[in-house]
Amino acid sequence: MQKILDIISEKMQAAFVAAGYDAAYGKVTVSNRPDLCQYQCNGALSAAKAYKCAPIQIANAVAEQLSGQDFSMCQAVMPGFINLNLSDSFLADYLEQMRTAPDFGVQKDGSGKTAIIDYGGANVAKPLHIGHLRPAIIGEALKRLHSFMGYNTIGDIHLGDWGLQMGLIIAELHRRQPELCYFEEGFSGPYPEEAPFTLSELEEIYPTASARKKDDPDFAHEAHIATFQLQQGHPGYRAIWNHIMRISLADLHRIYDMLDVHYEAWLGESDADPYIPAMIEDLKAKGHAVMSEGALVFPVAEEGDKKEIPPCILIKSDGAAIYATTDLATMVQRMQDHNPHKMLYVTDKRQNLHFEQVFRAAKKGGIVSQETVLEHVGHGTMNGADGKPFKTRDGGVLRLEQLLKDMTDFVRSKVVENKIVSDDQVEATTAKIALAALKYGDLSNQPTKDYNFDLERFAAFEGNTGPYILYTIVRIKSILSRYGAWEELPIKLPTNDHAKELMLCITRLGPALESALRTSSPNLICAYIYELAGAVNKFYHETRILTEEDPALQQGYISLIGLAKRILEQCIHILGFSAPDKM
Ligand code: ARG
Repeated sequence: MQKILDIISEKMQAAFVAAGYDAAYGKVTVSNRPDLCQYQCNGALSAAKAYKCAPIQIANAVAEQLSGQDFSMCQAVMPGFINLNLSDSFLADYLEQMRTAPDFGVQKDGSGKTAIIDYGGANVAKPLHIGHLRPAIIGEALKRLHSFMGYNTIGDIHLGDWGLQMGLIIAELHRRQPELCYFEEGFSGPYPEEAPFTLSELEEIYPTASARKKDDPDFAHEAHIATFQLQQGHPGYRAIWNHIMRISLADLHRIYDMLDVHYEAWLGESDADPYIPAMIEDLKAKGHAVMSEGALVFPVAEEGDKKEIPPCILIKSDGAAIYATTDLATMVQRMQDHNPHKMLYVTDKRQNLHFEQVFRAAKKGGIVSQETVLEHVGHGTMNGADGKPFKTRDGGVLRLEQLLKDMTDFVRSKVVENKIVSDDQVEATTAKIALAALKYGDLSNQPTKDYNFDLERFAAFEGNTGPYILYTIVRIKSILSRYGAWEELPIKLPTNDHAKELMLCITRLGPALESALRTSSPNLICAYIYELAGAVNKFYHETRILTEEDPALQQGYISLIGLAKRILEQCIHILGFSAPDKM
């Protein structure tokens, strides 16, 4: 469906032309004085300069052309603004179209295009910690938004499964159990099915190895060699790697499932490895890859750079490929497999420089086409309630699973205390509210900004929170279920100002989703549903819905809140959570 602003801009342009002025002046915007009008056009002010006459004269002439059934008010006011209010019938017709159209008639620009959203960034063999929360939540929301807007979307976790951490684990294991067959030269296999470690042992091995590397240069050297040999295909190391992957992935699946975060592709840095040699040869042949201090690098600095952009390192002097290499090779793979229109990377904003280098190399080196959209959505940090970096009591990094558990425990106590649902529903309801609290608490902030995690505030049923949005949906659900069949009821004319406010708010769905997509800002969807929930609650408080005696009026109310509910549910689905039936 055409957006309201576009519809009335067209009418305004036609009115300018009919009054003898250029159409270009007929741009309409949402009013910045909602107390005076809903929409406004300031074109007469600029037209006055071109036509050398008083702006109000032009505004009057244009306004005269506009009076019709679309506007309940169309007024020229000093010095030359044109103020507009939509007529009730226009509003009701528009909403009825939204109600009956697929996906509320939102204009979609993604059809025929593929978007790859690279998010989550989990590193195999290391437990997910709170630093992984934001990329998972923001990425999932952006993926669902692209999907809603018609893109063919692929969420790719891009596992860190190929770097030094694998070498560290192998080297540590070698020191602890040198007798294992994986380290035996000339071992002819087969390697055991069972891993020589459990998940919790693995989670201990990595940090120990990582700490050892810092004060034991021999060990650090062994780990580098092991990494290199793994990448070269050492069969024993490859077998250990397979064990690590299997154990670690099962755990990652479990936690991402709890977060309702799902990937279409569980690919990792290792999957890009086979693409590296040919890519390097190609970049060398094109003259992009050059030797510098023993390493192979791709200079990407450009004239006019405000800060120094160092060359992108492709192969280190010890022969190992690094983060940038696998990111470029992953692009080769993605272009071959999917030819995406867009690749979006959601990571900590401190990786800005890395992506700047990689994106430049990808474009200069012809790895992607000039049109491919490459975007880094760099997110800020989640701090503790005191604004300081989030630490556990003993100063460690909080595990993501623990954070989720803390939120769930807190919400459960409220659910139980307020006797919200029957005993058998407590867990399911708690899980939904906790996820909404956590995700909305995060997503309502602009991705780039840091924010403070505040369990009690996020979980509050009032204020700008996830549970408040859920509460609004649950309230509507309860009215609808008491009313009966509502799905087919058409939208009626608004009968009071609160109904009109609610209707106007509903018409802003498309523009809200569009700007959220354009600026990769799920927070704009949060802002929209917070406003919509507010409009619903005002309407609910000021209108007798279930006790209304006039059935025609009542049908209109029910249809209106039914539409609001569907939109709220659609939006929270995009944000990655859902509403319970009771709360
Ligand atoms: N594993 C990386 C990290 O922990 C994040 C990966 C993000 N995606 C990418 N294509 N680089 O920082």
